[in-house]
Amino acid sequence: MDNHDQLRSDLLSRIADADLGRLEELRVEALGRKGAISEMMRGLGALPGDQRKDAGQALNALKTEIASAIDARHAMLSSAGLEARLATETIDITLPSRPHADGRIHPISQTIDEMVAIFCEMGFRVAEGPHIEDDFHNFTALNIPPEHPARQDHDTFYLTETEDGARPVLRTHTSPVQVRTMQTSEPPIRIVVPGRTFRADHDATHSPMFHQIEGLVVDENTHMGHLKGCLTEFWRAFFGMDDLPVRFRPSFFPFTEPSAEVDIGCSREGGGLKIGGSDWLEILGCGMIHPRVLENCGIDSSRYQGFAFGLGIERAAMLKYGIPDLRTFYESDLRWLKHYGFPALAQPTIAGGLTP
Ligand code: DAH
Repeated sequence: MDNHDQLRSDLLSRIADADLGRLEELRVEALGRKGAISEMMRGLGALPGDQRKDAGQALNALKTEIASAIDARHAMLSSAGLEARLATETIDITLPSRPHADGRIHPISQTIDEMVAIFCEMGFRVAEGPHIEDDFHNFTALNIPPEHPARQDHDTFYLTETEDGARPVLRTHTSPVQVRTMQTSEPPIRIVVPGRTFRADHDATHSPMFHQIEGLVVDENTHMGHLKGCLTEFWRAFFGMDDLPVRFRPSFFPFTEPSAEVDIGCSREGGGLKIGGSDWLEILGCGMIHPRVLENCGIDSSRYQGFAFGLGIERAAMLKYGIPDLRTFYESDLRWLKHYGFPALAQPTIAGGLTP
């Protein structure tokens, strides 16, 4: 074997054994400016002219061969490295999460979970609907026709007109999900709908995005007594007070007849607000579903009737957890969340306790 073949087989066998670090050394050793092949290139000048050309071509071919052998080995080692890392870094997602996890549940999520736990215990299920609604579901089907003054109360966010001239809206309440549910399911219906709602209103007690929970019950013999029992039980469970005073006061909503507002007992002694007491605090709107709403949703109002209610989540959370300012809910301040948030693993249940 001449020098050339010797160098070639030596380099190739060392490349085949090299790890990633050794491979870089070999690259310098073989191809670098002071490397073996460059050395031999420099030697070409000493050869007689007729041999120089062939020897030059052979050296160039060797250089290319060694460079691609190094590249191939490099690619192989890197992907093998990645495979090995992937194999050792797999996460077993069936393992229980770590009990010392630092995250906190936001009071709005916590309040929704608590409310849903209570209603599910009573036989309700959770329904959802879109945030972008059409006029029919947000207003007309709920007995709020275009000229109805209730539309002004809603400070609606309108979206850009669509090609057919319709103006989509950000839903101003969770009530359109009543309509969607009645259109697509047969009674008996028992749903609650927690979710985001939107109104163009912003001050210390209003946010352009806030949360409501809606309730809907449709059955053949459902009456006002069921409505009163259901909501009285709900508030007593939510505030954890078996004797919490709850009263129903006549009111008006276009989608219910008769309509009522619910007050709970409170005390304002000493300037603060405490749940339980002989003063009253308005907390929810409700009523028996207007027959026209049932008909608008394809339900025979001579056979079925039911009740509905809707309430603001933030307000309930503020009252239960002593949160003084609505705006702090949306500020994403970690210090606030640490203070008012809830442990991630404490699921509210009726049996296990609602509040950690
Ligand atoms: N949709 C009403 C609002 O946003 C709340 C409400 C009142 C909902 C009475 C109901 C209801 O379902 O029966 O102000």
